[in-house]
Formats: sequence, structure tokens, C-alpha cells
Amino acid sequence: MKVTVFGCGYLGATHAACMAELGHEVLGVDVDPQKVERLNSGELPFYEPGLSDVLRRGIDSGRLSFTTDSAEAADFARVHFLGVGTPQKKGEYGADLRHVHSVIDDLAPRLHGEHLIIGKSTVPVGTARELGARARLAAQPDAAITVAWNPEFLREGFAVDDTLHPDRIVLGLNADDTDTRTESIVREVYAQILDEGIPFLVTDLATAELVKVSANAFLATKISFINAISEVCEAAGADVTMLADAIGHDARIGRRFLNAGLGFGGGCLPKDIRAFMARAGELGAPQALTFLREVDSINMRRRAAMVDLATAACGGTLLGANITVLGAAFKPESDDVRDSPALSVAGQLQLKGATVSVFDPKAMDNSRRVFPTLNYANSIVDAARGADAVLVLTEWNEFVHLDPAEVTPLVRRTNIIDGRRCLDRKAWETAGWTYRALGGTPALLPTVTANTLVRG
Ligand code: UGA
Repeated sequence: MKVTVFGCGYLGATHAACMAELGHEVLGVDVDPQKVERLNSGELPFYEPGLSDVLRRGIDSGRLSFTTDSAEAADFARVHFLGVGTPQKKGEYGADLRHVHSVIDDLAPRLHGEHLIIGKSTVPVGTARELGARARLAAQPDAAITVAWNPEFLREGFAVDDTLHPDRIVLGLNADDTDTRTESIVREVYAQILDEGIPFLVTDLATAELVKVSANAFLATKISFINAISEVCEAAGADVTMLADAIGHDARIGRRFLNAGLGFGGGCLPKDIRAFMARAGELGAPQALTFLREVDSINMRRRAAMVDLATAACGGTLLGANITVLGAAFKPESDDVRDSPALSVAGQLQLKGATVSVFDPKAMDNSRRVFPTLNYANSIVDAARGADAVLVLTEWNEFVHLDPAEVTPLVRRTNIIDGRRCLDRKAWETAGWTYRALGGTPALLPTVTANTLVRG
């Protein structure tokens, strides 16, 4: 099939490359000429494991190319995916739909004949219906434009796998539309994926839009739940990691997304819960999502708690302290620093008088752009020189497995602070470090191996 993908950010570029991988002919469209040029030369404008190979394969096969020209896209295909960003509005909780609107306004008048626009961006409920009306209003008399919604659930760091082997595919259709052609087209686009037995759920437009934001709101709630429990664990001297393991064995709860620590960031969860609250208010259901305000505030409190922990480690003041921050990306296997908890903490420490040296394996360029005033080191070793405290704020593998002996000779004081509860407390303490963890210090218990346990 021939398809276009509007928007070539994380979502759009991944979707375009993966659609080509499935054998479709794909034209990606973006307003940024530099991005388009890089993508056409097989270069990704961001880091995403495995995606470079998929992109190159698509380009080499001749099935994948990118353009800034929406007229070319209008002529290229009858199926158009919409994957542009919907960031948080400046100074407000709601989503900024500027990019979504501009794609429709630009594309719709150029279409002739039957066209299907499949939205993938995360949008406030009601947007898809509104975009359908907007497209039809701008359409030529000989054009018939349908708008459907097919939310995307990919995670950064696993984007290729999540796109080619998703947990489910959700398709929202206009409830007034009795035609089954839209569903058939989408089934054809995803035929290879559906052959694997992936659940395919057809809903109305509003439900499809809400599925996406509800999923992100649930994940955010799960993280803030365990972080709230970690505050109690810390006060009670209990171990929140063991607690999460124990409750996670209950299949109704599940262990995933119960990692306590510095909390969630990134370009999705924080802005999505805020936009969801704003939309619920607009719809006259303001009380329904007030708990998300608490979810947000628990999450932001983790950042403040991390600053407090670092201050305590430095003897009560950050003035004149040298702090090493390991990690800047909002999570490992990503170079994304949008609303990154790690960078936010680094910035706050600097504002309180510390000299902060940051190192991240992939996110250095993006961090420099957002926070040019922090010091950026070339390596862990470089970052750790003269430190009064070393903070691990993103759980990259090379930080998790860092040998304390490697950094001991470099630092001024041996304080390690585990913001993601990912380090081996015993290894650090054995090497002579003072270990602190966000959410309370994990217990060191004498353990008995299973086969020496005598029961009953
Ligand atoms: C999230 C969702 O997981 C995807 O399903 C969704 O498609 C995507 O948003 C989106 O809307 O586009 P992503 O932003 O890539 O994906 O990141 P997550 O893996 O969800 O992690 C979000 C944040 O939560 C990270 O900062 C991570 O460190 C934190 N986190 C995650 C925790 O603090 N604890 C956990 O147990 C898990």
C-alpha cells in the first residue's frame, strides 16, 4: 500500500520506517527541511535503539522517503497518518493542537477523490470528530475525506518493537459512518501485525482517543502510587522495592511500572495527564480526574526530595558543593530530555549554589540546548572529579553496573545517591561509600537460600 506519515518526530519517523518495513511505500512529511534531509540520508534526528537499521533498510529499498511538500504527499497516497506533536500549551494544562490543525488545513484542500486520514497523535477527546468536520469544510467538491483514530502506544527505547509487535491495535471510527471500508483499509495496512494474533479493537472516535490518555494516566498513577508508598516506607524504615516485588506478584497488580524513585517525565505522561484534566473540566466532569492533580504533585515532590537528599549528603548546604549528576535523559535508552526529572534536579541543585557536572551516554546535546548553564562532562570519570556527592538519576546500564572502585579515587567525598533505586547498596558500602536512596534505604537482610529453608 501507499501511505504518507505527517510529522517525523519520535512517533512519525518510527511509524514511517516501520510501515516501510512491513512492505508499504511510505512518504514521510515534515515542515523541518533539515530533519527531512537527515532522514532521507538515513540519519535519525534522535536516538532510538534499532530504528536506524529499519530506516536505512526502508530508504535502500526505495520504499521510504521524506519530503516537506504536502502537495507531493496529497498526490502520493490515499491513506495519510497524522503523527505530529500535541505539546502542553504554554502556561496552561490543555494540549496545543496547532500542529494537528495545520496538517489538516494544509492537506485537506489538496486532496481529490477518496482519502483516509488516520490520526495517531495523542489528542483531547473530541478532536478527531472536530478534525473530520474541519477537513470536510476545507475539501474540494470532488474529495471525500474520512478521519479515523488509531492511537499509538509505543514507548521510547522500544519504539520499533512496540510498533511492529504492539499489545493491541485500537481503531476509532466515526459512529455515524456505516461504511466498513475504513476498517478494511486499516486491517490491510496492519495485515502482517494482525496475522500474529494481535487484538484489534474497533471503537467510536471518542473511545479511541480516551483509550490512549487513560492508558497514560493509569501508568502515571501506578508510578505515583508506588512513590507515595515509598514516602511512607521511608518514614517507617521499610523497603519499597521489596514491597513492590511482593505486591507485584499479585497478577491483578503486576510488578511493571512499580519502580519507585525520581518519578516520571518525558514528552508524554506529564503533559498527557494535565491535558486530560483540562479536557475533563471542559466537558463538565472536573471532579472525575482531580486525583491526577495528586499524581502530578507526588511526582514533582520526588524531584524536591532528591534535592533535599543531596543537600543532606553535602552537610546541609549546597553552597560550594560539587555534585555529579549521572543521567540527563528522562529514562534510559533515550536521548529525550523533555520534562526530564534528572535535568530538572540538576538545574535545581545549581540554583541552590552547587557546581553541577552532568554526564549522560546519549542526551548530552539535547541537555546542552535546554540547560546550557550546567557543566557537561565527557565521561563518568570526568563528571566525578572532585565530587561531594554522586547522584544516579537515570538508570542507564553503565551507571547501574558502575564499579565504585573506579570513582573512589576521583571524588572529594564518597556520597552516592541512588535516585532510581537501581544500584547495589552492598557493593557501594563495601567500597566505603555512604549510600542513600530516594524512597528510603533498601534493607540489607541476611538471606537464606531456598533449599536450606525447612518448612513445617
Ligand atoms: C509512555 C507510555 O509508556 C507509552 O505507552 C506511550 O505510548 C507513550 O508514553 C506516549 O504517549 O507516546 P514513554 O514516554 O516512552 O512512554 O516512557 P515510559 O516508559 O512510560 O516512562 C515514563 C517515565 O516514567 C520515565 O521517566 C520513567 O523513568 C518513569 N518510570 C517508569 C518510573 O519512574 N517508574 C516506573 O516503574 C516506570
